[in-house]
Amino acid sequence: MKMKKMLIALLAIILTPSISFAGPKAEVLHWWTSGGEAKALKVLKDDFAAQGGTWLDMPVAGGGGDAAMQTLKTRIVSGDAPAAAQVKGPTIQEYDDQGVIKPYNIDAVAKAENWDKLVSKQVARHMKCNNFTQYCAAPVNIHRIDWFWANKKVLDSNGIKMPTTWKQFNAAADKLKAAGIIPFAHGGQPWQDATVFEAVALGIGGNAFYKRAFMDLDPTALGGSTMQKIFDQMRKLKSYTDPGSPGRDWNVATGMVMDGKAAFQIMGDWAKGEFSAKGLKPGVDYICSPTPSKKGYLYNVDSFIFYRVKGADKLEGQKLLASLIMGKNFQKVFNMYKGSIPARLDVSMADFDACAKKSNSDLNAASKAGGLLPSYAHGMALKGAQAGAITDVVTEHFNSNMSSKDATAKLVAAVKASQ
Ligand code: BGC
Repeated sequence: MKMKKMLIALLAIILTPSISFAGPKAEVLHWWTSGGEAKALKVLKDDFAAQGGTWLDMPVAGGGGDAAMQTLKTRIVSGDAPAAAQVKGPTIQEYDDQGVIKPYNIDAVAKAENWDKLVSKQVARHMKCNNFTQYCAAPVNIHRIDWFWANKKVLDSNGIKMPTTWKQFNAAADKLKAAGIIPFAHGGQPWQDATVFEAVALGIGGNAFYKRAFMDLDPTALGGSTMQKIFDQMRKLKSYTDPGSPGRDWNVATGMVMDGKAAFQIMGDWAKGEFSAKGLKPGVDYICSPTPSKKGYLYNVDSFIFYRVKGADKLEGQKLLASLIMGKNFQKVFNMYKGSIPARLDVSMADFDACAKKSNSDLNAASKAGGLLPSYAHGMALKGAQAGAITDVVTEHFNSNMSSKDATAKLVAAVKASQ
């Protein structure tokens, strides 16, 4: 009898590796490689490992994710989709249209955990495929784009208050320039030009204008006198940059503000992740303040999309990852490092800093005022080709002597050709 039991146990040991699965596994493609970004992502990696998951890291450096999106496209075309990738906005549904996501492995997790109740309708819609009926992506956060970041000491020692209008900004920048300080730390890469451009457009054009131009692609908004004023302000901003700006990475520009080499940067609140990673504090070392607008708020929801994959380990990996991403504590800790605010509505903001609290209260106010708008520059408002057409013109104008009038006409033509 004893012998028989031992034999069975022995057989179980021998057979186990071939009949069990090796545990959840996920290859994750992302572009979070800066100091603050990597620190935030580590929270997810550690959570995944703690649950027995094997994480295969696939980082593709490059702010804004342009390089990562190219790599991803190549992988998808060659039929080699990663289990999860950092993808957001309408690109999620574009991938669904290509048939590479179905059968929506994570939808069961979303249903079981009641995600529809945990995030706003607006955020939920971005995460859904199959005609917005099934979850195929999980949201990690809400980033705000339209922010000024400023070095407090530089402003104080030059007698400058945080500007609340573009006119005030220009006056402050003129003063700083005369004092030999770089007024505007800018990384001259197309996505960063676009980031600045949409913030300027929101301020000068207003919420309704932004919607007409960058969501509805209305040619009268794209080609009118308001757009010319927006390009005028872009030209001003260019004059406040330093000669080293072209090609510079966004986090290097943030570093210039940290070090007091430059006064301001316009960037989404992932910039705050850099300040935080260096132990700097808002209101003490730096100031965050929305760029001028009337209750406008340009948002960007980072999310992970889950492609169709084969193998129990990968399928379990996707489910585990989706569930962890939507975890309440994960959303808190991750976003404290990342600079964003939680996508989940039930996470208390009590332990967040003043910038995050402002982001959260401004989001609610903007939502009521019709000013909660998806960022075109960060892939939330338009399909890739249309957003790309706008950014090409913005960059060409920013890096040449093109007149605002010509840029506006070019914009209308480029958008038309992209449709
Ligand atoms: C993403 C952020 C990221 C930033 C810079 C944005 O498009 O939403 O998560 O930190 O690009 O790479």
